[in-house]
Amino acid sequence: MKPKVFVTRKFPDPGLESVRQACDADVWPGEEPPPHEALVDRARGTAGLLTMLTDPIDEQVIDAAGDGLKVISTYAVGFDNIAVAAATARGIPVGHTPGVLTETTADLAFALLLGAGRRIVEGADYARAGKWKTWGPTLLLGRDAHRACLGLIGMGRIGRAVARRARGFEMDVVYHDPGKQGAEIEGARSVSLDELLERADFVSLHVPLTERTRGWVDAEFLAKMKSTAVLINTARGLVVDQDALRDALVSCAIGYAALDVTDPEPLPPDHPLYALPNCLIVPHLGSASVQTRTKMAEMTAANLLAGLRGERLPHCVNPEVYEH
Ligand code: DGY
Repeated sequence: MKPKVFVTRKFPDPGLESVRQACDADVWPGEEPPPHEALVDRARGTAGLLTMLTDPIDEQVIDAAGDGLKVISTYAVGFDNIAVAAATARGIPVGHTPGVLTETTADLAFALLLGAGRRIVEGADYARAGKWKTWGPTLLLGRDAHRACLGLIGMGRIGRAVARRARGFEMDVVYHDPGKQGAEIEGARSVSLDELLERADFVSLHVPLTERTRGWVDAEFLAKMKSTAVLINTARGLVVDQDALRDALVSCAIGYAALDVTDPEPLPPDHPLYALPNCLIVPHLGSASVQTRTKMAEMTAANLLAGLRGERLPHCVNPEVYEH
């Protein structure tokens, strides 16, 4: 008999197809995530859960699945939506997709850096609205990226990939990462947070969401940035205190924000951040390229199928489950 699994959204082939072939797969049909009660209900009696970053996989979902649950595999590198400690306590490995989306997410961070710096979306809206009457000496002036100072908060895989891109723009790259103080990485110098915020023309966030990073970018953090600086967030929305960010943008305490991630997601259409001309928001597109989403699908399926066979997951968040 094929193992029963719940897949919380359709995702690209051949990943999904390999899951359908090997499993008795219940695939949520909607374009939107299953509501929590559906997650709990559909998890019952499954051997595997294949989930998205939009699904809160909490203790209730894990308990609903029951003793037969052998693996949770998420279609993302981030796993802050999963109660990993609860899974570990039950001996359940959790799989994710590190590495494969690094360059694609760094591309998007750099696109946001340039898009905000050079006011690309404002310019496109202006032209489309028929406001473009002539070339203007001061029309939509932005900020140069080349030879500017880029401050990276977090110097993991994605931070390093952004630093590599910045070299091509001859940027002066500094970083702050409490776990990596002192080392020069990809031509970027390690500095204190205060020095980074004082110097950087662009501040880009590349930290996971943890208890330590939740709300890190608050009023005090924003007040230390240059009044012309651009904040870029491709990490997680909850790293930024959005009320403080709105105040900083309204009062021009900082110049611009470019956000791929928000709190909540989706950001409701009447959210005040949309009304600000100096805020560019895109709908969590960090890894959204055809090539990368296809590779992520293969990795997510491989993690799930390994777990169902009782094998070690190729990419496991909690390898301590194998210690016993
Ligand atoms: C992830 O995988 O965690 C990313 O946020 C997806 O874009």
